[in-house]
Amino acid sequence: MTGISAARLALLVGDLSAARRPRYTALADRVRLLVSDGRLPLGARLPAERELALSLGVSRATVSAAYARLREDGWAAARQGSGTYAALPARRVHDAGWRLGAADHGAVDLVHAAPAAPPEVAAAFAAAMAELPRYLPEPGYHSGGLPELRARIAARYTARGLPTTPEQVLITSGALAAIALAFSLLLRPGNRLLVEQPTYPDALAAGRARGAQLVPTALDPETFEEWPTIAVRALRAVRPAVAYLIPDFANPTGRLLGEADRERLSRALRRAGTVALIDESLVELGLDGEPPAPFGVHDPGSIAVGSLSKLFWGGLRIGWVRAEGDVVRRLAANSSAIALAGPVVEQLAACALLDKIDDAREAARARLREGRAALLGALAEQLPAWRVTPPPGGLVLWCKLPGPRSSGVVLEAERLGLRLAAGPLFGTGHVLDDRLRLPFTQPPDVLRRAVHLLARADARAAGQEGPAHPAAPDLVV
Ligand SMILES: Cc1ncc(COP(=O)(O)O)c(C=O)c1O
Repeated sequence: MTGISAARLALLVGDLSAARRPRYTALADRVRLLVSDGRLPLGARLPAERELALSLGVSRATVSAAYARLREDGWAAARQGSGTYAALPARRVHDAGWRLGAADHGAVDLVHAAPAAPPEVAAAFAAAMAELPRYLPEPGYHSGGLPELRARIAARYTARGLPTTPEQVLITSGALAAIALAFSLLLRPGNRLLVEQPTYPDALAAGRARGAQLVPTALDPETFEEWPTIAVRALRAVRPAVAYLIPDFANPTGRLLGEADRERLSRALRRAGTVALIDESLVELGLDGEPPAPFGVHDPGSIAVGSLSKLFWGGLRIGWVRAEGDVVRRLAANSSAIALAGPVVEQLAACALLDKIDDAREAARARLREGRAALLGALAEQLPAWRVTPPPGGLVLWCKLPGPRSSGVVLEAERLGLRLAAGPLFGTGHVLDDRLRLPFTQPPDVLRRAVHLLARADARAAGQEGPAHPAAPDLVV
């Protein structure tokens, strides 16, 4: 495992001067956040104390004390004679990446951008159990997915304007598995992968896991209309192997790509020889209107992934790939080499949910509109200096903070019982620390309470309010 340079770690840690607690604690906290949300890979060697002290402009004693604190708490480990390495405390090993600590009961969770299961989900499982006896006499392995489910998903594409057969659909364990599967077919180490920036962090991780070189294209809610030009230019200049795009209510910006831009982008993709991987996980969540026809109408060679996690429930673990038949066959072969087939009951429940999708959509959209209004209202009242462009759909607001302090806000919020994902997670480098993603999937009263805590966390991170706990008196630097 490689190390991280002092200069880069200093950049990721940011300015410690506003911290009201002792600098060494503030530094240890920042490094802990970087390890826990995956920005600092496990096993990465931390810089020598003297070098980091120089890069941060603090004393060596401060870095020494911070490293000692990290080791004490299990976030770093010392190896005899070879330095200090990023580690995970033993009690955290079952948590994953940037959602670490998801099981902290009692905390308000604004990390997950996914709804609690609506009543339709339990009803769908009851319907699935009633259907199950018909399937029990067979072995239960349905490679590629249950034919009934593939047919329903194909029909939905056809209804949305992209004629699709069941053979063009492959069921996966959620959209992320679909993304990883597609990347494993399309990307070789060193290949370029064009992404929107910001984008969905786990897709970035899946690209990195394939050894891809990420090519970010800036997507700013205040200047959405500039992104297609930026993307077309990048396609021409870089000719990436793959472009991972979220045209419908993107996570985290909520951006909806218009029909003309889809057409323009498809032409540029064709010219560059780039395969588009289109993430449609949020396509059913238009809050102010319907999205245009699927991207595949313009770019028949593109591969789409979808999911029931955002409209229904992440616990279903139902996602899919939609592509040309030969691509689906190759993906299915790769997929069954890892998992022979998906679980039958969940797929039957998914069929029942899709049979009532129109009513469920209306109910979900009404809940989300209410959440969006509550969150926008509370932010305008309590954090008027933050800027937010109301998104036309999706599950989250992408907020602009008055300064680069999103990681600091996350740490302060954690102390107050509010869990957040820091802005830089959604980018490919150390950018976006002036951004924070806030999901509006929770009930309005929870959202208002969350913003109350957020305003306190923001004031502390900006150095305008005292520390959450009395400062430890043991080291003054
Ligand atoms: C854009 C996007 N794609 C994919 C996923 C993963 O969805 P699934 O639960 O189906 O794996 C998410 C969930 O956060 C998402 O926001």
